[in-house]
Amino acid sequence: MIKLTPPMGWNSWNTFGENISEKLIMETADTMVSEGLLEKGYEYLVIDDCWSLKERDEKGRLVADPAKFPNGMKAVADYVHSRGLKFGMYSCAGNLTCAGYPGSFEHEFIDADTFASWGVDFLKYDYCYHSPIIPGKYLYRRMGLALENCGRDILFSACSWGADETHEWIKETGAGMWRSTGDIFDTWESVKDLTKQQARLHPYNGVGCFNDMDMLVVGMYGKGNVGLAGCSDVQYKTHYSIWAFMGSPLMIGCDIRSMNQATKDILMNPELIAINQDKLCRQPVRLAGIWAGEDLLLYSRQLDNGDLAIGLFNMGENKAMANLNLDEVGLPMSTGKTLRLKEVWTGEERTVTNATLRKELAPFDCAVYRGKVVDL
Ligand code: GLA
Repeated sequence: MIKLTPPMGWNSWNTFGENISEKLIMETADTMVSEGLLEKGYEYLVIDDCWSLKERDEKGRLVADPAKFPNGMKAVADYVHSRGLKFGMYSCAGNLTCAGYPGSFEHEFIDADTFASWGVDFLKYDYCYHSPIIPGKYLYRRMGLALENCGRDILFSACSWGADETHEWIKETGAGMWRSTGDIFDTWESVKDLTKQQARLHPYNGVGCFNDMDMLVVGMYGKGNVGLAGCSDVQYKTHYSIWAFMGSPLMIGCDIRSMNQATKDILMNPELIAINQDKLCRQPVRLAGIWAGEDLLLYSRQLDNGDLAIGLFNMGENKAMANLNLDEVGLPMSTGKTLRLKEVWTGEERTVTNATLRKELAPFDCAVYRGKVVDL
């Protein structure tokens, strides 16, 4: 199965961990529709780890925990589909999942068939407890092939955290997205760390196999499974802007049943979603800028209609002045062209003069522009 733009949806792990149930999933499905998330493109509803019993049945099949899912997983899938959403589940390339439930090692084909029989559309595939003598690429190839042969279109979401040089072999496994870094936590340090680690991996992102920077922590405010200190709204805004700009899948991780207005505004920014979903899926380009310290990240990205996206991200706790010479994006003054910019959060419009974009950014803040190439 191939997905031409980064997958978008919701995943249970960040907030709920093992506290998942049919009721939660049904309410979340309802909310994805009623809050307009589905309309904006968030279409996958994914149940992460901790959904099964600790033992397989007598035929070697995985069994949904009846205490959490009393009507079985097919009923959950049917409900999710009835709301117009796609249904995702989770397994692992090892003997156990990361939380200690049965993994799919040596059960790849039977598990792929089980997922297909339940109506699963997306499988996140983790990397805990895997055999130390079988390289990961073989484990992911197995499941990739099993999914391609299970009789249902299932998006393969690899989750080997960038370990063992994942970028070198992940596309060959059939994965449609791959976790390029370790787990996110609801802190600014975590967001910053994952952002910086991504820098060497941009060239591997592209149509059909997307670098997954992990689920979003927007709107968690320190509550839930990976909720530690939490972040401020400005930090969530910049976190979301980076994930969207860099072409990561956008998987919401907060409890959407109780989102506040700030969270909704961040998760549903139409212009950022358009940049994320731009059909060229060009890699972001890190720019040097002028006098940019190590906490000021400047990026550009080519978009489908000749536009350029420009992202200025202040990762630091002090205000910062972004200075960008348009020579870096291919528009020196000698071309007779410049950029007319619109900022996606404030609607601010400006035309760059003297081939130099200057913008002061508050601590942790960002500006993301969509730029049109116009005559000087
Ligand atoms: C790993 C993954 C997480 C989550 C947990 C579940 O840590 O990277 O995204 O799926 O396992 O146990």
